[in-house]
Amino acid sequence: MADLTEASAVPALAVTAAVGAVVLLLVLLCSVWKKDTKDQKEDSGENQVSKVKTEPVKQEKNSKKLKLNIRSKKPQQVQVTHPWLASTLKGNSSAVLGIDFSPNGKYLITTAEDRCVMLWSTKDFNQKEHKFIKGIVELDHGTQVKFSPDTKAFIISLANENALRVYRIGKKDDGSPGNITSAFDFPKVHQADIIRIGIASNGKYIMSCGSDTTIIIWTIKGEVLESIDTHQMNNSFACVSPCGRFVASSGFTPDVKVWEVCFNKNGSYSDTKRAFELKGHTAGVYSFSFNNDSSRMASVSKDGTWKYWDTNVRYEMNQDPYLLHTGNISYSGHCLIALSPDGRTVTVGGENSITFFNAVSCKEEESVDNIHLGGLVDLSFDTTNKYLVTAGDRYVHVFHNVTGYQATVEDLLEKEKKASSTAMRDRVRQQISDARSSLDSILGQSNGHVNNK
Ligand SMILES: *[C@@H]1O[C@H](CO)[C@@H](O)[C@H](O)[C@H]1NC(C)=O
Ligand SMILES: *[C@@H]1O[C@H](CO)[C@@H](O)[C@H](O)[C@H]1NC(C)=O
Ligand SMILES: *[C@@H]1O[C@H](CO)[C@@H](O)[C@H](O)[C@H]1NC(C)=O
Ligand SMILES: *[C@@H]1O[C@H](CO)[C@@H](O)[C@H](O)[C@H]1NC(C)=O
Ligand SMILES: *[C@@H]1O[C@H](CO)[C@@H](O)[C@H](O)[C@H]1NC(C)=O
Repeated sequence: MADLTEASAVPALAVTAAVGAVVLLLVLLCSVWKKDTKDQKEDSGENQVSKVKTEPVKQEKNSKKLKLNIRSKKPQQVQVTHPWLASTLKGNSSAVLGIDFSPNGKYLITTAEDRCVMLWSTKDFNQKEHKFIKGIVELDHGTQVKFSPDTKAFIISLANENALRVYRIGKKDDGSPGNITSAFDFPKVHQADIIRIGIASNGKYIMSCGSDTTIIIWTIKGEVLESIDTHQMNNSFACVSPCGRFVASSGFTPDVKVWEVCFNKNGSYSDTKRAFELKGHTAGVYSFSFNNDSSRMASVSKDGTWKYWDTNVRYEMNQDPYLLHTGNISYSGHCLIALSPDGRTVTVGGENSITFFNAVSCKEEESVDNIHLGGLVDLSFDTTNKYLVTAGDRYVHVFHNVTGYQATVEDLLEKEKKASSTAMRDRVRQQISDARSSLDSILGQSNGHVNNK
């Protein structure tokens, strides 16, 4: 379609331009002729020169207009161009609803409304072409997706069935992922829509969270271990911490509740008990996120702020998490938050934009607007801290974690000041220069990438 409009637009505009040029020429000639009749014996050479001069100028203006018109007619879809953008994964024909990185960092899995589950290789993120392996969800579609710890399987929550389904990922001869086949369904237990799911990294349990106040803890075979009532009026978000120890939820009430899922020494399930809470927001909490060892958390609330917490506390002794700082957000409506595994970067997503903050200094680093026309549905850092991925509409955008590199440089500059020996200082200086050159190469590389488009 775009080509068609372009083809028809060119002649039409060219005709307009040509007519315009002829009219102009006539006007010009007219005035020249008038001038000539006034000062009869002027040298016509000068007039000729000026005529020659004006024409190319007009033509240049016209051709510029032409190009601009074509360009403004063409893009119907969002073309996100930002120096931090590493790539955009395309392939879905309708909205992407859920994303997850494999624990080994090698793959990203996405689930979409078009019934497709796609497995992408993170190795390709810097390339222009992105290959994927596709699985189809028969007679339904997945709303959320999570990898098993060994990356040999994944679970999805089914939209219509409102239950969990397990899929196996086959292996090709070279060891790379092959066929995606469905294995079995969990029993249908949730009354309200399942909004979030999780798998513990220790492989001991699975979590599913409904939009009412229910969270179910399951064995990996699909037996119910526990049903938790969050007492949060309506759940808005829940997850399993990356360390596998905790399940947490937020909702209409202004807190985040964190439970520890406990197992006996012989491996049998013991119980799920309250660990700690994040208290300090003044309205419902939309979303929250853990760093890789659960020593830090970040939360975002309807009260217009995000908060950064030190959760490395002895909760068994009733110690509460410490609030490290509070930042403001400019988005209205539902927001999502992601904390990088190393705890250095916070990204808040709202409306159809994202903002990166340095988690340690609370400083706003960068914001990228209008990335998903249909609104942002999910965002996540990869396990290596290198990328932040956002999903919405039909696309998945992969951003470089530039804030992370900058935060690393800042940390190192502090270390350099405190260095007690020359050897140590030299080592830190080397690290600073490494981080800076990585930064330069990312920014240089992706700038080139954008300009090439
Ligand atoms: C809260 O959950 C109940 C039970 O699922 C549901 O009927 C209700 O619409 C939800 N309210 C909101 C505001 O999401
Ligand atoms: C595991 O240990 C718990 C308590 O320590 C006990 O109640 C349970 O019966 C044991 N289970 C098995 C299968 O040994
Ligand atoms: C957030 O906004 C409040 C009120 O406008 C202001 O007092 C506070 O300094 C802001 N905080 C930051 C980190 O910008
Ligand atoms: C968490 O990330 C830090 C920094 O990247 C790393 O040093 C540490 O080993 C990670 N810890 C866990 C439990 O994965
Ligand atoms: C960003 O990536 C670099 C390189 O992988 C890593 O050292 C740094 O910790 C990351 N930072 C964040 C906040 O993810």
